[in-house]
Amino acid sequence: MLSVHNLLVFYENALGLNDFSMEVQPGMIVGVIGSNSAGKTTLLNTLSGLILDIQLKERRKGGERITVVGQVLFEGRDISQDPPYIRARNGIVLCRERHPVFPDSTVVENLRISGYLRQRADIRKGMDLAFDLFPNLARWKRRKAGFLSGGEQQMLAIAMAMMVGPRLLLLDEPLLGLSPAMQSQLVQAIKDIRRQTGVTLVIAEQFARPLLPMLDFTYVIENGMLTLTGTGPELIENPEIKSAYFGV
Ligand SMILES: Nc1ncnc2c1ncn2[C@@H]1O[C@H](COP(=O)(O)OP(=O)(O)O)[C@@H](O)[C@H]1O
Ligand SMILES: [Mg+2]
Repeated sequence: MLSVHNLLVFYENALGLNDFSMEVQPGMIVGVIGSNSAGKTTLLNTLSGLILDIQLKERRKGGERITVVGQVLFEGRDISQDPPYIRARNGIVLCRERHPVFPDSTVVENLRISGYLRQRADIRKGMDLAFDLFPNLARWKRRKAGFLSGGEQQMLAIAMAMMVGPRLLLLDEPLLGLSPAMQSQLVQAIKDIRRQTGVTLVIAEQFARPLLPMLDFTYVIENGMLTLTGTGPELIENPEIKSAYFGV
């Protein structure tokens, strides 16, 4: 479904990604694990096309020069130059790290805003799915999003991404800052997303322990470079991974 070939992202003073390649098959849940500054966000921004916007913004204000080299193929087609809105329309949707919600709008309004490009029937279906996946959101339909807890806002952000109708959903640190209880709810919801919709997922996470059991394949990156690959369960048993990411 997605192939990434020899990606290199260079931020004038820092290397974001160095010769990174990956493959994602349809229906898989693929993990990208790495410590802080490893290059996870850079990768997801490059897959979603957001990096092109950031690059343009920097160029306009005369800021740093961002260089992107390499290929991103989606269903066999090179999309490296497609802007993010085209990629979203084609089914690649990113839920950014600490993705903001509209705090003064209700849960339902937030979902409706995200589905604005879709048919009415799809919006209805999307809402049903969101409330099915996230019972907390169903409880707070008419509540302003700004009054939700951090975990509930994260759930809303993911539900909003689902409203766009992704075929490939990119999640940047979905577990970040959540309580263990919230984390396990979110892990369950991610499993349900795959089971109910068949959406393909790429999930970037630093403390990925709760995710590993369900990862079909995992890429470990350090300083923008691929250091290790394997299925989630294989990595759980890997001593280097244990010491680096689980603190044991
Ligand atoms: N807009 C930017 N300008 C300059 N350097 C950046 C920018 N974004 C990321 N970087 C650098 O690129 C590297 C990878 O960052 P990032 O992709 O955010 O890592 P992660 O998401 O794994 O924490 C880091 O060294 C970071 O400082
Ligand atoms: Mg990041």
